[in-house]
Amino acid sequence: MMYPKITKVAKYLPQKTVTNDELSKIMDTSDDWIQSRTGIKERHIALDESTSDLAFEVAKKLVEDRDVSSIDFIIVATMTSEYGTPSTACLVQGKLGAQQAFAFDVSAACSGFVYALSVAEKLMQSGIYQKGLVIGAEKMSSVLNWQDRRTAVLFGDGAAGVLLENTAATSHFLGERLASDGTRGSSLTTRQNTKEFPNISQKTEDAEFLTMDGKKIFDFVVRDVAKQMKLMLTDIEEKNLVLDYVLPHQANERLLDALSKKTKIPREHFLANVAHYGNTSGASIPLLLADMIDEGTLNFGSGQIVLLTGFGGGLTWGNLLIKL
Ligand code: ACO
Repeated sequence: MMYPKITKVAKYLPQKTVTNDELSKIMDTSDDWIQSRTGIKERHIALDESTSDLAFEVAKKLVEDRDVSSIDFIIVATMTSEYGTPSTACLVQGKLGAQQAFAFDVSAACSGFVYALSVAEKLMQSGIYQKGLVIGAEKMSSVLNWQDRRTAVLFGDGAAGVLLENTAATSHFLGERLASDGTRGSSLTTRQNTKEFPNISQKTEDAEFLTMDGKKIFDFVVRDVAKQMKLMLTDIEEKNLVLDYVLPHQANERLLDALSKKTKIPREHFLANVAHYGNTSGASIPLLLADMIDEGTLNFGSGQIVLLTGFGGGLTWGNLLIKL
């Protein structure tokens, strides 16, 4: 029996970058406020590209040295798909010409990539499928209220993803815990559909844009996500493994400080690149993986043990333990 493993990672960022100073020209904010609260310095913004365009650029890189007809499935994690239907994954499948692949989106906000990778691994484990793409892609700029400084400064656009192949002799997916709490869903929302029969009313501004209760999200991460990470640490110990790095969702640096303090995992084990991208939601963890592979901190085939930690709207959260 062969097991699935990540054999490749790729990223794509829209060309335009927007610095904090540039934002301070269009809203009442400052580089100092944004950096001290979040660690973010700049973010990429897609001007004439859609979410599926960003995801497609990643998909092309993932399959460039493979036969596109060998791809069995494409999963895209996104909270900013351009349509209700077709899904972003179907748009990517069409653009790629991956005719043998089935495609669907996973909607779990900033946990989307972790959820999608978990689902993909189960598909591969079935033995029915041999190759799949799992991509996180977001055009967060399309759901932000650019009049609202409390949220607009936090996010960015981008995409990244991985190729999964059933080629490992031993398991590379070593453990997972996924959780959701819909009762706290109102802490972070986008695009509430307010149209009702028979009065097809316009959406209100508040319903259309991203809304967030920053303090509630902060508390959720420090309490629930930290608790799940600690359970993972117990799992890791019981399996006699040693954790090399955490690849956390990149919301902001202060959250990572808080998670480190709460879990007692040393801060230097939490990898980060939020300074250059802002919070790219479902794209943030694969973007981090791509950067860390590029700079040589992580290497495929090294046997390094990493914890992918996602958390976000839904509420959703999850941890995946992976051997590279
Ligand atoms: N520039 C300048 N001032 C601002 C800005 C801004 N961009 N945004 C808010 N302020 C002001 C507020 O109006 C407030 O002013 P007031 O005291 O006069 O009312 C003041 O700064 C403090 O505001 P707070 O909301 O209390 O700021 P806080 O220190 O809590 O930081 C933050 C806000 C960064 C959002 C914090 O709550 C946080 O990190 N929350 C986690 C949420 C998060 O990262 N969400 C990302 C999406 S969800 C996810 O990915 C999981």
